[in-house]
Amino acid sequence: MEDLRYAPIGVFDSGVGGLTVAREIVRQIPGERILYFGDTARVPYGSKSQDTIIRFSRQIVHFLQTKGVKAVVVACNTASALALETIAPEMDIPVIGVVIPGARVAAESTKNGKVGVIATKSTVDSGLYTRVITEMDPSVQVYSKACPLFVPLVEEGWLSDPVTVEVARRYLEPLLETGIDTLVMGCTHYPLLRDTLAQVLGEQVLLINPAYETARELKHLLEREDLINDGACMPEDPENMHSFYVSDAADKFREFANSILPFWVDRAKLIGIDEY
Ligand code: DGL
Repeated sequence: MEDLRYAPIGVFDSGVGGLTVAREIVRQIPGERILYFGDTARVPYGSKSQDTIIRFSRQIVHFLQTKGVKAVVVACNTASALALETIAPEMDIPVIGVVIPGARVAAESTKNGKVGVIATKSTVDSGLYTRVITEMDPSVQVYSKACPLFVPLVEEGWLSDPVTVEVARRYLEPLLETGIDTLVMGCTHYPLLRDTLAQVLGEQVLLINPAYETARELKHLLEREDLINDGACMPEDPENMHSFYVSDAADKFREFANSILPFWVDRAKLIGIDEY
């Protein structure tokens, strides 16, 4: 039987955004191999219904299982909020999402008990960030705000454009008025706006990146389950260390990946995700 320790970690997202999570995994556990799927044909998930997001996520984890992954990271906040609870018990490998690690750290970090969450509309409507934070600490007040313009701005590459700064101001000013001292960047794309968000929020608000917290949680999980890759059996060609799959627009995906990942992505393979 194959040694699971050398199997890749399946990471998926509605598109390119989950690369921010893949990037954190590579930074924190560089010995691990990543097999990434971006559902670029069906993005965005952030405005879709729960039934649709569960159906899409189920197809994707089936695809990842055919590739022999040892664990799955649901890198998409929206899929973590709406589908993880349903699909994780259906799998015989560990499946983790990004919401719970991010929410946990936010609850632990706030000093004044006022936490902001920015995310897609579907994630905000699910109420999961609020539920997890207040389960951890019922005295914390959570203020959520959907910021639907951020995803297209990031995909356009306008990370610190004056237009993006103005949009951030419009979204964040009402949150600032509540007196929050901690803000969860509850969408895959938002960590790429970190500098702009910090500029608008000022120094007194701590920014929480669920991607970072998820990579930490993944590391602990792999250690606990004796699944850490010790590097004894790696692909001969370093280019085969990680692999990337998409459901559409492979070249655009590759370009984005190469603008944010610390290694070169030579190709993204196109697959028909509806077959899974
Ligand atoms: N990946 C999604 C999330 O983190 C953002 C993009 C989308 O709406 O699909 O919620």
